[in-house]
Amino acid sequence: MDNMEDNIKCVTCTAPVNIAVIKYWGKRDEELVLPVNSSVSVTLDQAQLRAKTTVMASPSFPNDRMWLNGKEQSMDSKRIQNLLNEIKQWRKEKHNGDTCTDGLLMWKVHICSENNFPTAAGLASSAAGYACLAYSLAKLYNVEGDLSAIARRGSGSACRSMYGGFVEWDMGSQEDGSDSVSRQIASENHWPELRVLLLVVSDQQKSMGSTEGMQATLKTSQLMDRRIQCVPESVEKIKEAILKKDFKTFAEITMKDSNQFHAVCLDSCPPIFYLTDVSKQIIQLVHAFNSSCGITKVAYTFDAGPNACLYLLEEDVGRVLSLICHFFPPDKDDLNTFVQGLQTPSISPLKVLLWT
Ligand code: DP6
Repeated sequence: MDNMEDNIKCVTCTAPVNIAVIKYWGKRDEELVLPVNSSVSVTLDQAQLRAKTTVMASPSFPNDRMWLNGKEQSMDSKRIQNLLNEIKQWRKEKHNGDTCTDGLLMWKVHICSENNFPTAAGLASSAAGYACLAYSLAKLYNVEGDLSAIARRGSGSACRSMYGGFVEWDMGSQEDGSDSVSRQIASENHWPELRVLLLVVSDQQKSMGSTEGMQATLKTSQLMDRRIQCVPESVEKIKEAILKKDFKTFAEITMKDSNQFHAVCLDSCPPIFYLTDVSKQIIQLVHAFNSSCGITKVAYTFDAGPNACLYLLEEDVGRVLSLICHFFPPDKDDLNTFVQGLQTPSISPLKVLLWT
C-alpha cells in the first residue's frame, strides 16, 4: 500500500533463508561488515522458511519502532541504524540532498518482522530478516541499487539472501566495502534435482551468537590463518562443481568446509562448541550411508548451531528420510509434524524435527 494522501506509506516483502556451503566466519571490518573470506550459499525455497517484513512510515508516528515476531525490540541496534541510514542516504542522493522537499525522510518508521521458523537457532533467520528489511526499506524509500551491500550492514550472511539459487559473496578488497557484494552463480532452476533436508536438533537460542563467535575465533585461533588461505581454492572448486552439477565434488567440499569451520571454533580460546552429540551422530550416519553406497550421496553442513542441513538429490530423499526416521524415531506427540514440506518442488527444505 502506498498512500501518501492518507499520510501513511506501507510496504510488505518476504525474503528467503540461505545456507552456506563455504562458510563466512570472521570480519576484517566490524562496522562495515566486511568478511575475511568469500563464501558460497544455496538459497532455499520460501515455502517452508522465510522472513516477512512490513515497513510503514507516517508523519503521525512519534518515533521509530520495531517488532520481531510480535515482540517490541530496541531500534538502538547499530546494525538496524546503519542499514536505515544507508538507505536514507541513497534517497537523499536521489533527491540531490534536499531533505526539506522530501517529507518521507522526516517521517518515523515502524518495522514489523516475523519468521516462520525459530529465530537465532542457527537456522539463518538473521540472514532472511535483514535481507527482507533491506528490500522493504528500499521499496519504501523508492531507491534502487545493489541491495546486497545494504543487507550486509545488517548481518553479513544476509547479502546472500538477496538472490535465489546459488550465490557467492565476494569478500572484495576495497576499504570502503564497495566491492564486497553478492552475485548469483546459477539460478534456482539450474539444478532442479537438488534437495535440502533441515534436521532440527534444537530450536533453542544458540550458545554463542555468530558475531561474538567469529570475533573470538579471529582473535585466538591459530588455525584460522590456514583456513583463510584454503577458502579461495574451495570457492573456485565448488563454483565449478555447481555449474557442472557435479554432486560428489559439491558434497565433499561442503562437508570439508563445515568441518573446517567447526575446527576453528574448537581451536578458539575458550573453545566454541556448536555441535551436540546428536549433530555428531548425524555426521556419522551420513558417512556410513555414503560408504555403504560406495559413492557420496549426501552432504551435511552445520552453521553456528547444532541443526544439520543435508544436501542430496531427489532420487535419494526417500531412502535418507527412512534412515533418519529409523535412527532418530519421532516421539508419539510429534508423529504428524516430524517431517514437513515433502511436497514442495525445487530447492526445498524438508524440515525434519529431531528434538533432543
Ligand atoms: C556460520 O551473518 O549471522 O552461518 O555478520 O555477525 O551477523 P554477522 O554474522 P552472520 O554469520 C553467519 C555465519 C554462518 C556461516 C554463513 O552463513 O556463511
